[in-house]
Amino acid sequence: MKKLATALRFALPLALGILAVGPALAADPIVIKLSHVVSVDTSKGRGAEQFKKLAEERTKGRVQVLVYPNSQLYKDKEELEALQLGSVHMLIPSLSKFGPLGVKEFEVFDLPFLFPGFAEVHKITDGPLGRQMLDKLEPRGIKGLAFWDNGFKVMSANKPLTLSSDAKGLKLRIQSSKVLEAQMRTLGALPQTMAFSEVYQALQTGVIDGTEQTPTQSYSQRFHEVQKHYTATNHGYLGYAVVVNKKFWDGLPPDVRSALDSAMRDATVFVNQLTEKENEDDLKRIAASGKASVTQLTAQQRDAWRQALLPTYGQVESRLPKTLVEAIRKEIGGK
Ligand code: LMR
Repeated sequence: MKKLATALRFALPLALGILAVGPALAADPIVIKLSHVVSVDTSKGRGAEQFKKLAEERTKGRVQVLVYPNSQLYKDKEELEALQLGSVHMLIPSLSKFGPLGVKEFEVFDLPFLFPGFAEVHKITDGPLGRQMLDKLEPRGIKGLAFWDNGFKVMSANKPLTLSSDAKGLKLRIQSSKVLEAQMRTLGALPQTMAFSEVYQALQTGVIDGTEQTPTQSYSQRFHEVQKHYTATNHGYLGYAVVVNKKFWDGLPPDVRSALDSAMRDATVFVNQLTEKENEDDLKRIAASGKASVTQLTAQQRDAWRQALLPTYGQVESRLPKTLVEAIRKEIGGK
């Protein structure tokens, strides 16, 4: 009898404890850590906030999205490793950053002058070729949810880059893409792979002479304070893949996952509607800052850049299957 009383004395609080903890656990939201490397004040930054808002609304608080902008949590290379390890759940890296992971196909977006505009990019990113590229991530434990636009790139340096030959001998920062490396070598420049978070200081201290970047990324990071000249070459596209840790995503309750899928679809539309105007406005802001000049190329000058960069294609043939480039050209109606 005494034994039973003792057992109850311990069992009761334990049971009550479990009851007390039970509902609290059930109410704990699923936390999604979303890390990215740019400022909140960009289309990607705003898109991340929009996804958070929609995701939390549509799951009625069952999901909480914690957004870490500006490389606060991880820099370029570390973030993909962290995603694979599950230390972070969602990232939005540039398509130029998947090569080191062994997924080279995304570098096709880095080919100079491949896409005339956003409409042609969307024929790929919204179609079967885009889906096939995202699926290549799965054996690496990563699931691709969407493509987000950033924009078309301009070149900058402390000397005017009106002719492609003006880039000769300059140390130009690139993202970690072999196609971008080949592109810069084609210009006779010296490509320097560097994390986005390190570019401002490298420009300021002269470790690099210049960079290619979309106007929005340049303006939001204040690169124009340490670059005197911009040229609106619009020579290449910069876009993103929204990616998640596959195991984490597949393990979510199906109703939560479908609410998140719908939040992602709408956040994607939101971002892709912002980017074009944002880049136009930011290029104007750079020109109006009084810190840097912006050169607009004539059709003839731009064509000279195109001709100068054409050999890039031949240099990356062993990396990017010719059939992929041909399939893209066919899809977008190019030659
Ligand atoms: C860069 O590293 O230049 C960009 O990809 C940064 C970004 O995410 O827009």
